[in-house]
Amino acid sequence: MRKRRQAGPEIRLKTEAEIDIMRRSGKITALALDKIGKAIRPGITTAELNIIAENAIRGLGALPAFLGYHQYPATTCISINDEVVHGIPGGRIVREGDLVSVDMGAILEGWYSDSAWTFPVGPATAAQQRLMEAGIDGLAAGIAAAMPGNRLRDIANAVQQVAESRGYSVVRDLCGHGIGRRMHEDPQVPNYVGAVGENLILRAGMTLAIEPMINAGRAEVTNQPDGWLFTTDDGSLSVHFEHTVVIRAEGAEILTKLR
Ligand code: MF3
Ligand code: CO
Repeated sequence: MRKRRQAGPEIRLKTEAEIDIMRRSGKITALALDKIGKAIRPGITTAELNIIAENAIRGLGALPAFLGYHQYPATTCISINDEVVHGIPGGRIVREGDLVSVDMGAILEGWYSDSAWTFPVGPATAAQQRLMEAGIDGLAAGIAAAMPGNRLRDIANAVQQVAESRGYSVVRDLCGHGIGRRMHEDPQVPNYVGAVGENLILRAGMTLAIEPMINAGRAEVTNQPDGWLFTTDDGSLSVHFEHTVVIRAEGAEILTKLR
């Protein structure tokens, strides 16, 4: 999500019963995202991928979380190469050699889940592979740091260390978020150290969408005239990996896991 001003964060811890519904919602998002990953091939349009996602989510008994959110017109965000996030699907044709980031969410019984993954089209180049690994490892490190008693800063630091130690940069204008009955709840979950609110102490029962966006080049991004799409300013490739998680006594449980 876009970074915004945040007053004192209002965070309601979720009950076991609520977490159970979020886990079912997350499973639906995971299955739909997996379906998209398998459908991505040269020649398919982003609108066709979007329909596959929408049918998958509805077919599993949930509603697309993004459709109509602040007038957003689709079920997925599909962002290619130097596009960071919030690409609106349409007639664009996916080509061999592209890096395609797909972000989507579901609403089940009023509870949201949100997840994203970046897929190569055809065999990835070594450079693409390294960048994707940094995103996947960054997300895993952030999730591992989501322990009760840790602070939001520990998540941010874990992500940032992975990205920067490999020569990449973390997008700062966008961040993760609390999630539950709404897609975007407090707190904001930054992916770099030094953001406001980073001292917040994590507690069991918090549900967060952790979503590092990592650029091969510089961190700066620009929101394009459609008001949604963000692209890297230097034209470098960007990847996006996101999971909805719940913090438990033993550490984070991923709610948008495939199995
Ligand atoms: N995962 C995206 C985010 O947190 C959700 C975008 S919803 C949309 O920013 F409707 F804005 F696309
Ligand atoms: Co999100």
